[in-house]
Amino acid sequence: MTDDRAIILKADELPDKWYNILPDLPEPLPPPMDPPEGYSRVGDLPNLLIGECLKQEMSTERWIPIPEGIRDLFLAAGRPRPLYRAKKLEEKLGTPAKLFYKSEFYSPTGSHKVNTALAQAYYAKEQGFERLTTETGAGQWGNALAYASSLVGLDCTVFWVRAVYRWKPQRLKFMQMFGADVFASPSTQTEFGKTLYAEDSNHNGSLGIAISEGLEDAKNDPKAVYCLGSVLNHVLLHQSIIGLETMKQMEIAGEYPDTVISCLGGGSNFGGIALPWMGEALTKNKEIQFIAAQSEAAPNLQGEYKDDFADHAEMTPMLKMYTLGHQVTMVPIYGDGLRYHGSSPILSLLRNTGHLDAVAYPADEKYVFEKTREFVQAEGFLPAPESAYSVACAMDEAIKCKENNEKKTILFNISGHGFLDLDGYGEVLGLKPQPERS
Ligand SMILES: Cc1ncc(COP(=O)(O)O)c(C=O)c1O
Repeated sequence: MTDDRAIILKADELPDKWYNILPDLPEPLPPPMDPPEGYSRVGDLPNLLIGECLKQEMSTERWIPIPEGIRDLFLAAGRPRPLYRAKKLEEKLGTPAKLFYKSEFYSPTGSHKVNTALAQAYYAKEQGFERLTTETGAGQWGNALAYASSLVGLDCTVFWVRAVYRWKPQRLKFMQMFGADVFASPSTQTEFGKTLYAEDSNHNGSLGIAISEGLEDAKNDPKAVYCLGSVLNHVLLHQSIIGLETMKQMEIAGEYPDTVISCLGGGSNFGGIALPWMGEALTKNKEIQFIAAQSEAAPNLQGEYKDDFADHAEMTPMLKMYTLGHQVTMVPIYGDGLRYHGSSPILSLLRNTGHLDAVAYPADEKYVFEKTREFVQAEGFLPAPESAYSVACAMDEAIKCKENNEKKTILFNISGHGFLDLDGYGEVLGLKPQPERS
């Protein structure tokens, strides 16, 4: 069904294959590497990842069938998700551009992260694991994995960057509703966590540290396996469902994007919406501009392109990626999900070959949140603080179209909702508590 504003797919139009860009990349993807010294992290990979995910990580098959059991879980999570034409926003901006946004904010826990959480939980259960461990920054990934674990019948342990754990008590309760065991990281649950906690029990933590804790916890329990919510090839593969649905929807709308935009932390939602389109750009010679929206607090696509660890304690193999350094300290921002030191190897390669542009917005977040307030007032949906970067970038591009009188079609992803993040918006936009008024 279609109308002027929402383009909605039926359940039987849910894609039945994921798109893997590896065979279509302009250059072969550099493999994970071992550091010059120490044990082989590459050799350790089968002990770190779910078997099916490791297979997908290396696969050069262009199309990978989505098992019926996972398609069923996707339907239960409300997929396919609508694509919207932002007509009210276009009017407000007075732009000749056409703006379309994908609604990952309809996810049960609030973000696109459920797309890979459900797939990973399904494969882990099939392999006989009983518990999943993970890290989370913004809390969206931990919440998504807690939800997926609960749906397939697994236990879940979440190591949550302490600074964010402290300012998102509602998100914590949401994870607890699904039965997850949640620790502020660095925690006293792992040897690595204990050393940092002993130095500073108020340690803010980082995603890199929380990853190390999740890995250590899983390594010490044969019934547990670690799951990562971004960066890796198989995560972007699972997220390709976003872009594949969007391709069908744009076809129904009779449109083709000139520009594809999303926010980028480790790269999973950006890869999800962009890579199916990037595949067309690479194999069918289509002209599409791809823009990743980042924060100046973590502009990893402006870092160095080199082999680096994905975690603080150097337990993962080294991945060739744009990185700010795996032990870098970054200032806190409300869009905490964007605060990761490295960008996915696939997207890093595409950045290096000139197929991917990036913009970084000021770390005080005033600009992106003010733009997002305009979006909220026109369109009515409340994006997550991370998604606010995508919204601001799309609006900037629409304004450029107005200045240059260009009728571009701009597609952007809204990776999540901000219902549990209003304190951040309130703080930055000055929405102060007010005395009771009647
Ligand atoms: C709503 C939302 N969007 C985006 C991101 C950034 O992650 P990625 O770059 O993997 O999409 C996060 C991470 O937590 C998130 O919660």
